[in-house]
Amino acid sequence: LRIEWVYARSQPRPARRRGTDRQQEIPPMIEKSLWHPVAQAHEVVDAPLGVQLLDQPLVLWRDPQGLVRVFVDRCPHRGARLSMGRVENGHLECPYHGWQFADSGQCVKVPALPSFTPPPSQCVKAFEAQEAYGLVWVRLATGEELSAVPALAALAALPAFEAEADAHLRKLNCGPYDVAASAPRIIENFLDMSHFGFVHEGWLGSRDATAIEAYAVETTATGVLATGCKAVQPQSNLHSTSAAEVEYTYEVTAPYAAVLTKLPESGTTRAGWRESIALFICPVTPETSRVWFRLAVADFDSPDAQLQEFQHTIFCQDQPVLESQQPKCLPLDPRAEMHSAADRMSSAYRRYLRASGITFGVC
Ligand code: FES
Ligand code: CO
Repeated sequence: LRIEWVYARSQPRPARRRGTDRQQEIPPMIEKSLWHPVAQAHEVVDAPLGVQLLDQPLVLWRDPQGLVRVFVDRCPHRGARLSMGRVENGHLECPYHGWQFADSGQCVKVPALPSFTPPPSQCVKAFEAQEAYGLVWVRLATGEELSAVPALAALAALPAFEAEADAHLRKLNCGPYDVAASAPRIIENFLDMSHFGFVHEGWLGSRDATAIEAYAVETTATGVLATGCKAVQPQSNLHSTSAAEVEYTYEVTAPYAAVLTKLPESGTTRAGWRESIALFICPVTPETSRVWFRLAVADFDSPDAQLQEFQHTIFCQDQPVLESQQPKCLPLDPRAEMHSAADRMSSAYRRYLRASGITFGVC
């Protein structure tokens, strides 16, 4: 069944919701085999933290070795939320009857039966986690599920962010933002330049200069790349004192991740100047998301708060419009919404999601 499904990913999307019993089976979700950001790394300490990913409530905690552990946020005894418990002797303790779970998810203590050794079957489901870009990333597919299907193993990498390794750029995070919009709608907004003169008037654009010059779009191994994206921006960053023409590249690096790179302004005295912003989204439910921006900027002097404030201002301009969009899912049928030539990047993103077999947050 799994092999058929992987093959089916490269085929045209089958009609869904035809209403027969057979088609109501829930298909495996490609999204589960991807890494997703769920929390800021510094938030995860030796106390449980509840989060949600792809409709699945999870509990995060840090074990005595400093590793982040991720379990289903539901005690297998009587269903209480483990995130309401605490970490005790390096184990996660349920708030209800005090069952304790080791880092593997194995139950190691049932306080009502002090001499009882719980069998291996008495455990809570655990998931893989890793830390990168100042965030904790979680994958819901288990190693076994991934290795059974070689095509899925190819998705094993985190979304790329090239600027992360550039020592000439300072990195900091902005967020989280809890947004009542699907992750794909938020990515598409990030890739969209023709809203600048309206949503970001006086900042990233102006109503007097709304034309979008033709730009190039190509597909990459992990997504879509747009180059030669130009805009005249009244206030393109924290320090700009006059309008400037800026050139961007936009890259979709995973279904729910994208990177914007501002290229050096011509005539700049700062050789190699560029800045990048990664957008990393946790798809919480099909219609709600948690959003972080990872900034990589050449500015090593301004306080964090000042750099974050600029990004915050821009995103707070986007958020109400994003949350107003109907439907909240991103329609992948090209006929469902109307497009202009200026939208070729978002059209390419929709084709990429369709080809990837993404189902969460799209329709
Ligand atoms: Fe968790 Fe009973 S519900 S220990
Ligand atoms: Co915007």
